[in-house]
Amino acid sequence: MTHTHSNSNKSVIRKEFREYVETLFGDILAKDYFEKISTPMEEYTLHIFQKYELIERIEDNLRQIGYEAKVHNEFPNIIITKPKGQFTLEFEENMKEMIVDNRAAEMIYQGSDIFIPGVKRANKVKVNDIVKVINQEKNPVAKAQALLNHHDMLVKGKGVAARNLLSPFKVPNLQEVGLDDFPAYFQSLPAYLTSINLEPEPNEKILDCCAAPGNKTIHLNELSKNKATIIAVDKSKNRMQKLNKKIAKYRLKNIQTKVGDIVKLSKSWSVKFDKILIDPPCSSLGLRPRLVHNVDVKLIKSIAKYQKAILFACDKLLKNNGTIIYSTCTITKEENEEIIHHATENMNYRVVKQNFVFSKTNISIDNFVFPVQRFTPGIDHTLGYFIAKLQKLKS
Ligand SMILES: C[S@@+](CC[C@H](N)C(=O)[O-])C[C@H]1O[C@@H](n2cnc3c(N)ncnc32)[C@H](O)[C@@H]1O
Repeated sequence: MTHTHSNSNKSVIRKEFREYVETLFGDILAKDYFEKISTPMEEYTLHIFQKYELIERIEDNLRQIGYEAKVHNEFPNIIITKPKGQFTLEFEENMKEMIVDNRAAEMIYQGSDIFIPGVKRANKVKVNDIVKVINQEKNPVAKAQALLNHHDMLVKGKGVAARNLLSPFKVPNLQEVGLDDFPAYFQSLPAYLTSINLEPEPNEKILDCCAAPGNKTIHLNELSKNKATIIAVDKSKNRMQKLNKKIAKYRLKNIQTKVGDIVKLSKSWSVKFDKILIDPPCSSLGLRPRLVHNVDVKLIKSIAKYQKAILFACDKLLKNNGTIIYSTCTITKEENEEIIHHATENMNYRVVKQNFVFSKTNISIDNFVFPVQRFTPGIDHTLGYFIAKLQKLKS
């Protein structure tokens, strides 16, 4: 006997967070947000650099493996593609289960294989078993084939535990498109717009203060035709290693990386930058798909405090008339408009219009709407994201 799972409305939403989103967006948009946030983005962007002449061939490759693909109307180095799905999962009764942690489950839900570190339990699972993969809330996210016995998964500690046979969605990855070693990466359209709106020019000195793993750093370098001096800082050594590898692999010039805390570094640096990209850690409530929402609203406030400290540190490092792009992949007012409001009220900044605007919504502060970009699942075909451009006024 088989059981079918429709995969819809499976997300778990903590009451406090539901109320928070309803207050922020109103009931109608909040409902659309929760519906869309539990699915992958409707559109994915494949960003090609250096080998621009191959873009049409890559577009064909994507189509040949069953994905829609179209070069963006305005930006000739990106291809817009879409996930496949939604597929219905069917399970045999008494099928063995593999429990995976909630974050891993979100990747598996959109086609990723099951990696050993994400496995919480796989009791009695043997090599070649067809298993039902469920998250910690017991919601199914895929049907998979075990590549190892449970005991061997524990011994190995890393690698692939099971191959994904069917999940509700399938998003393309570089390997599948044959682009493993090719100068290309998937990023969202708002992430692409973040760097392009900083408008890096050759010979400028630019700081990317929360840079790793560095997709935006590489884009800034591309936009300045390798001629801006880019200082990329990140607190995480592991994440920075990823950027260092890409710099070496693609022989990127004029990017210097530094592992460190920008708040501390700013106290001793005397250098001044023309432009700064601030893409700080955030509550990541725009990321899709998100199947479990257990956000603590207190945490949002403490993250916002940290973001203000990073903004303050960057202010010290920016020339008069210099430009900041501030971006997050979250939807909260505290981490977005309120940070910008703080920069205009308590620091010496004005908000300036961006040249590349694709978002459709805005949220007011004290009845005033800043010319910023706010992307909202349920309205935009992408993740929840925020971009603001600030100019430092002469003191
Ligand atoms: C949203 S991620 C950046 C993503 C990156 N801009 C990209 O596009 O690939 C935020 C990063 O900020 C780093 N970070 C957090 N606090 C920091 C600090 N005080 N100074 C420098 N980096 C920090 C984290 O290690 C993390 O890599």
